[in-house]
Amino acid sequence: MSSRRKIAAGNWKMNGLRQALSEVEALHVSNPAPECEVVICPPATLIRSMAKRCTEMAINVGGQDCHEDSSGAHTGDISAEMLADTGATHVILGHSERREAYGESDAQVRAKTKSAWTAGLIAIVCIGESLTHREAKNTLDIVGGQLAASVPDAATGENLVIAYEPIWAIGSGLTPTLDEIVEVHNFIRARLVRRFGDAIGKAVRVLYGGSMKPENAAEIGALPNVDGGLVGGASLKAADFSKIVAAL
Ligand code: 13P
Repeated sequence: MSSRRKIAAGNWKMNGLRQALSEVEALHVSNPAPECEVVICPPATLIRSMAKRCTEMAINVGGQDCHEDSSGAHTGDISAEMLADTGATHVILGHSERREAYGESDAQVRAKTKSAWTAGLIAIVCIGESLTHREAKNTLDIVGGQLAASVPDAATGENLVIAYEPIWAIGSGLTPTLDEIVEVHNFIRARLVRRFGDAIGKAVRVLYGGSMKPENAAEIGALPNVDGGLVGGASLKAADFSKIVAAL
């Protein structure tokens, strides 16, 4: 169980022009720990050039979304195959910002995940409750439902990463207590083991996301069943992100 390699994943969201690529080089200079995998998901416009720069670094590059079809009349969309073709190895799917702004359903996230796998990408599937659900003590129901419906049957420890991101913790500076994080991560682990069996269920990495910073990354990352972080704001600057990588 402790053999799961940590992941520090950066989600740049809709931030970053070409000049931001220098942050990635600065990250390399500050020497990410080899026992922690580093993934950066920049805007689609930067994937190709970032992937080129990262070929000699221990940094993987990912997309932030893909369409479920491999090609076709979907103006403005990008397929998983296209992401892979630009050098991406990962893709974030079902982020709460997309679930909320575009009404992405669990079924769509599941279809996108299948398409990511067909293209050979590792899917980072996001789940997490709203503040209303947290206050109504529905967190585990929501998270369990999203996990069941968003993840296809063909999951393995290699093709799937889960990111637990409480919506109210994203960009707010708030985080659940350490006990609350453990409760949800233990629950996700148990559900994965129940559905996929011991070997796969214990191999899938489960990341925490939501206001992860250099100051809290070590204590969150050391919790049982927390296999790293999906980091938004603090992944934009190499100085912060490299501290998170080191902490994990
Ligand atoms: P912040 O780290 O900015 O809270 O964002 C988290 C997130 O949404 C990562 O996907």
